[in-house]
Parts: sequence; C-alpha cells; structure tokens
Amino acid sequence: MTKVITVINMKGGVGKTTLSVNISYILGRYHSKKILLVDIDPQFNATQYLVGQNEILNHFENKKTVYDILMPSKEDEISLSSSRKKTKSQPINLDDYIIKARTFLLRNRVVGNLDLIPSSLKLINFETNKRGVENLLKKFLDEKCSHYDYIIIDCPPTLSLLTLSAYLASEYYLIPIKPDYLSSLGLPLLERGLEEYEELHGHSLKNLGVVFTMVSAGKVSEEIMTSVKTSGWDCFKDHSSHSTKVAKSIKSLNNFYSYAANKRYSEEFKSITQELLNKL
Ligand SMILES: Nc1ncnc2c1ncn2[C@@H]1O[C@H](COP(=O)(O)OP(=O)(O)O)[C@@H](O)[C@H]1O
Ligand SMILES: [Mg+2]
Repeated sequence: MTKVITVINMKGGVGKTTLSVNISYILGRYHSKKILLVDIDPQFNATQYLVGQNEILNHFENKKTVYDILMPSKEDEISLSSSRKKTKSQPINLDDYIIKARTFLLRNRVVGNLDLIPSSLKLINFETNKRGVENLLKKFLDEKCSHYDYIIIDCPPTLSLLTLSAYLASEYYLIPIKPDYLSSLGLPLLERGLEEYEELHGHSLKNLGVVFTMVSAGKVSEEIMTSVKTSGWDCFKDHSSHSTKVAKSIKSLNNFYSYAANKRYSEEFKSITQELLNKL
C-alpha cells in the first residue's frame, strides 16, 4: 500500500523542502523504496534541489507539472475520470508528469528510485472557482501512482487550495520546526487549520510528529524544543543540526551522503528517516 505523507508548516524557511528531499533520497537509496516526491510549492525549491536547471526548463517546455494535475486540460480531465471505462480518450500517461530524478542500483539492478512531479511558478496565483479541484491531486495519485511505496508532498507555507489538495491526498503529515521563537509561533496556527480541515472534510490525518531542523547549540533552541514537547507534541528523537554542509547538499546529494566530512549531518537525516519508517 502506498503511503502518502504531507510535509507541512505554516512558516517558510523552516526546512520543509530540505527534509522532504533528504527523506525521499534516503528511502530510495538506503531502503530501496520506490519514492515519488510531489512539489506543490510554487517556489519549486524541491524541484530545483533535485534536478538541474536545464532539465527543469526542458521539462517545463515539453511536459506537465503539478499545475496540469490541478488544472487539467479538457482532454486530460476526461481521461482521468473515465480511465476505468472503455472510452476513446487518450489515457493519462504518468511519464508526462514525472522527472526520474534518481535511480539507485545494486549490482547493476535498480533497487530504488526517486521520481519527482515538479511544481510550476504558474501556481503562484493559483485560484479557481472550479468545483472539486481540491480532489484532483488525490485522484491522480490514487489512480496513477499506486506503485510507489511512499509519496512525499512538499507544501508551501500557506493555507490554500494547494495545502488542502495535499491534506486530502494524504494519510500522514510531518511537521518540520526550526526552533526559534518566530518559527514556533506557527504551530498553534497549523493545529487550528488542521482541526478545521478535519471537521469540515471528515478526514483525519495521522500526525507522524515534529522534526526539529536547523538546530543550533544554545539556550534558545533547547528552550523551544522543550516547550514544544511539553505542550504535547510528539517529537522525533533525532533532529537535524544547523550546518552549511546541509544547505550545500543542494549542490549534490550524492556527495552529501558519500563524503565522510558530512557524516554527522547525513547520519541525522538517516536516523530521522529510520524513525519515520518505524512510525509508519
Ligand atoms: N540543517 C540546515 N542547516 C543549515 N541550513 C539549512 C538547513 N536546512 C535547511 N537549510 C537552509 O535553510 C533554508 C530554508 O530551508 P527550506 O528547506 O527551503 O525551508 P522551507 O521549505 O520550509 O521554506 C534553505 O536555504 C536551506 O538550504
Ligand atoms: Mg520549501
């Protein structure tokens, strides 16, 4: 069964994308899983993290993005809704949407992979009165992506149709928090938003917990982590420390995970991922 996890926080710059990308990579490379990362943030940072500029431009020019899932052409709309009926419409082809970002080999055999559905800047002004749009991502993932082990959705820091689509498509959510005063203020807001969502849609998501990111040594980090824990949030035992090495991992994830000098930081992400697997 495919497990779909939304990575969410109402605040930007707290490490959502970094966590989403690293967990996805580790699940593919070290756990031999089939992973799909769905980038629904109009800033498309996860897309930039995983694929080079040329590949992105090429994909944008010739293929489809998350935008086309949420705003399908008439043709695609028909073929998704009628994919189980025998009609003459062209079936939706998943390969038109995904970028095969990484494949992981063991003795020349593919054992895991990381595919990406890229986001698009076009989502910046994404507003529509069209009914049912919020269900389209779920429908697409259910119908076209059930061969993946895990689907990770990297969200924008807003309560919008985009996050609503992610919630509806997901069974789990994961909250990265950077332990500084401003970032922790977003937590009650997130909680309220989720409660409203669950009430309105009658769909409850399972909370996998809080992952502390960009943790630096010092009193402020300690205090905030303690206050999040004591206010009842389930927190991961391991965290990701603040380091330029992590920030630079965007240049090459392979190097980040291969160089001994990065070991402390790459091991942190591996422990977080192991803990995540234990919870699923
Ligand atoms: N552990 C870390 N140490 C140092 N910088 C980090 C770390 N994690 C993320 N960053 C940097 O912080 C910025 C925000 O992270 P990002 O993952 O894009 O957050 P979000 O998706 O929540 O906006 C990025 O520039 C990223 O490279
Ligand atoms: Mg992001």
